[in-house]
Order: sequence, then C-alpha cells, then structure tokens
Amino acid sequence: MKESYSNVLEKETGILVGAQVGPPNGQSLSLEDSLAELELLAETAGVEVVGTLTQQLETINPRTFIGSGKVEELKLLANELGVNMVIFDDELSPRHQRELEGIIGESIKIIDRTALILDIFAQHARTYEGMLQVELAQLEYRLPRLTHAWIHLERQAGGGGGRAGGVGGVGLRGPGEKQLELDRREIKKRISRIKDELKKVQEQRSQHRAHRRKTNIPVVALVGYTNAGKSTLMNSLTHAGIYVADQLFATLDPTTRQLELPSGQAVLLTDTVGFIQKLPTQLIAAFRATLEEITEADLLVHIVDASHENAIEQQRTVLGTLDEIGAGDVPILTVFNKIDLLDEPAREEMRHNADPQAIFISAKTGEGFEALLAAIERELISQYTQITVMLPFEQGQLRSLFHERGKVQRTESTADGIRMSGYIPKELVSLFAPYQLKREK
Ligand code: GTP
Repeated sequence: MKESYSNVLEKETGILVGAQVGPPNGQSLSLEDSLAELELLAETAGVEVVGTLTQQLETINPRTFIGSGKVEELKLLANELGVNMVIFDDELSPRHQRELEGIIGESIKIIDRTALILDIFAQHARTYEGMLQVELAQLEYRLPRLTHAWIHLERQAGGGGGRAGGVGGVGLRGPGEKQLELDRREIKKRISRIKDELKKVQEQRSQHRAHRRKTNIPVVALVGYTNAGKSTLMNSLTHAGIYVADQLFATLDPTTRQLELPSGQAVLLTDTVGFIQKLPTQLIAAFRATLEEITEADLLVHIVDASHENAIEQQRTVLGTLDEIGAGDVPILTVFNKIDLLDEPAREEMRHNADPQAIFISAKTGEGFEALLAAIERELISQYTQITVMLPFEQGQLRSLFHERGKVQRTESTADGIRMSGYIPKELVSLFAPYQLKREK
C-alpha cells in the first residue's frame, strides 16, 4: 500500500551524536540503546548511518551542546566520511544548531531526533488532518531555526517523499522551491492558516466522537511504544488492512474499526500513533487532537513488545507519555505481545514479573486472543454498575441518559413510572440513586 521511501530517494548518509549528560539514572534508556533506537529512526527516514560519536558530559555546552574539542572531532569525522548530515540524539536549541553549523560547515545538515521524527511523520501522514498536524509541527520547529544553511540545503522532494511537501512540509526532505522562498513572516502566516484549518477539521472530528458516544459503543484504544505490534493486532482482530512494517511510526493516523467481544458486545477499536522516548513536546502538542482519541477512550490496551530487551523502559515511556497527554486516569490493560518469540523460560520469567492482570499474546499467531477479548470485556464491565430503577414519568432526562450512556436490558411501563434495568457507568450512579429499587424487588 505504501511505497518504500528509502528506495525512491537518493540515500543520504549521517553520523549519530549522543551524549550522556550527568550520571545514568537507570530510568531512561542507556546511551547505547538510545543511539540504537536513533539509528532505527534514521533508517526509517532513509538515512544510512556510517558513524557514531559519543561523549560523557557534566553539563550541556550552551554553545555547541557537546564540548568544543568534540565538535572539532565531529567535523573531522564528518569530512572524512563525506556524510551529508549529523544527527544529535537530543533536541538541539536554535543556538546549538547555528553554532554547530558555523563550525562544521554549511554543506552538512545538523539535525536532531525531533527533526528526524518529524520527517518520518511527514512521510507517513495519510489523512488531511495528519498532514496538517505534521506540517504545523515542522513549521513551528523550523521557525526559530531558520538559518541560511537550512534554506540553502533544502532540496526538491523526490518521489513519494513529496507527499508531505505537497502540503508545505519542511523536514529533511525539501518541500520544493516555492516553499524555500518563504520567509519567517510567511511561515507565521502559514502557521496561523493551518491552525484555522485544523480547528475546522477537529470540530468535525469531535462531532464524530460525540456521535460515537451517542451510539453508546465503548471505545478501546491501542497504545504502545512504536513497533510494539498495535497495527498487527488491530489487523488480526478486525481485518482492518492497516499497513504493518518493521519500521518506526508506520501508523500515524488513528484508524477505528468495530470489534465484537465474546458476549456480543460491540466495541470500537482504535489504533493510535506509537510513542517513543524523547518524544518532542511540540509534537505531543501538535497531535493533541489525535491523542484525544486516547484521552477519551473507555479503555487503553497497552501493547508491550515482550521480546524487546528494553520492554520495561518502553513501558515506562508509554505510561509517562500517557500522563503527559492527560490520559493518566483512563483504565489500562497491559498486554505483552510477540510471545511467539520467547522460549518457555523467558515467558515464565515475564509472567512472574508482570502485573497479575496482564495478558500475554502473539498478534502474529493469534495465541492469547481469547484471554485478551475476555479481559477487555471484564475491564469494560467493571466500569459499569448493574442497576434497576423506577423513574417517575417526568424524569425523561434520566431515561435518555440511561439509554445514551448505559446499556438498557429491560424497560417496563408501570402505574408508578418507568422501571428500567441494565448497566450504567459508575460515575452516574449517584444521579440514579434516588430512584434505585432494592435488589430483591
Ligand atoms: P508503529 O506504527 O510504529 O506504532 O508500530 P505498531 O505498534 O503498529 O507495530 P506493527 O504492528 O507495525 O508491528 C511492528 C513489527 O512487529 C512488524 O514487523 C510486525 O510483523 C511485528 N510483529 C507484530 N506483532 C508480532 C508478534 O506477535 N510476533 C512477532 N514475531 N512479530 C510481531
């Protein structure tokens, strides 16, 4: 379905630069693992990594991020290897970028993890909203960094990479001559136009969501670290036909499909953008609307790649990001995926260490699906309370609320009013309490 961009674009080469600032804290990925991840990101963006440079730092150098001696070393290495870009693992300030460009020379692009992720997002955005969001994030990222070197280095987008350029993207892949002529003021104008346009698109989306709420189908969102297997699971469960690739951020735009649980209850399953450590804050902000799919879900199914050596750190990153986007309160079901890649002792160890509620599956082979669906059902039911009420005839509003937000099993018109029984969300119990009938009735 999607073209492989690395094939249609001329291969670029780059050097990765990573710094350990202060002592390792054991909370985040080690420098080595973080750089391995950065290399995967670079590959996904179509950049071949030909060298790596690391440094232990007490503090970040305000001018050049890494120390001045290291910058000289970097310059030598870059010239020796003839690369066209240097990729920093951490976000560079506009000043860092300017100073580094000044020293290393204008023929080599200095970029950071954020720019790389933005570029991948630009390649993978498919919906209008997704493209607008990425373009906005790219423009906001680029605005303070607009230097001569950047403009000079932008080049015409080639092949499929031009998609994002089509809406004016300004990532690694140049958005074309016309875009290059934009000065800061024009970029600002474009930013405000995109914001207006996004507002319209997002209003429509929230109307859709409101409609979905009315139809009373619970929403289950798949969340997880990039490459954990969310799309594979979505495809296996719903035959959604979503693009699956051993690539980071293959899925950018949320896809929603209906899924039937064992009891026959329908839920809407939504596949969302993958998370990653050091996910830039402006990206989180730009994707806020898409991420509302997550914050407004009834249940989050957190897919963890059990076969990944950094599964625990990845899990922690996802939980941290969920908190950051305001989804910390949505119930979470943890699901360890790819267990087909684990041998029995490794599975045993994982079961032993994991939360007892966690589920173990293989999205590829279908192993554990039954337990997963049962657990989703259980989690959703646990958010509801079974109730029987006798609503006076004049309480039409409560009757509607029961229908809209609850699951009505039985309605009976009696001389005293309308007797209704079924399930309602726990947070609504207090509204119905005055009319609740005792269980034995
Ligand atoms: P993003 O789009 O980056 O967020 O990734 P994702 O979480 O949607 O992952 P995706 O479904 O694209 O899967 C990533 C890779 O893992 C693909 O190569 C899948 O074939 C592979 N994969 C997913 N689930 C399983 C599994 O249960 N077992 C094995 N062996 N591989 C799996």
